[in-house]
Amino acid sequence: MTEQHRSQLIAAALAARQRAYAPYSKFSVGAAVLTSTGGLFLGCNIENSSYGLTICAERAAIANAVSAGNRELIALAIASAGAVTPCGACRQVMVEFAKNLPVLLIDANQTDHILETNLSVLLPDAFTGPFVL
Ligand code: THU
Repeated sequence: MTEQHRSQLIAAALAARQRAYAPYSKFSVGAAVLTSTGGLFLGCNIENSSYGLTICAERAAIANAVSAGNRELIALAIASAGAVTPCGACRQVMVEFAKNLPVLLIDANQTDHILETNLSVLLPDAFTGPFVL
């Protein structure tokens, strides 16, 4: 990931967070994903009065990328208060489309404080299909 891509991802995740629909938790999350075609796709969390139907920002961003025909993910950024790490469900969706995805964690209240991790750290020994014995 170039420095330019890094700053684009950070700005896009922060912008996506502004669109969060989180009237129940009041916890806004934004995500942005860079694809191999150079595309940048955004997502925000979208809650529902039936709470379990909530879509996380990360999965919304990946759904946008894949729906536009971009299945190869290069890097992903997540913006939230406190720079949370992604939930398990989102980690599993990430591994479907990227084997070793750099993940930037942005604290929306302190945007110069960015943690960089990786999907292989977040989801070691991931399940990617039936075992071959
Ligand atoms: N959420 C995300 O969108 N991404 C995360 O990484 C963690 C959690 C959302 C789901 C829900 O709308 C709110 O944050 C509180 O859990």
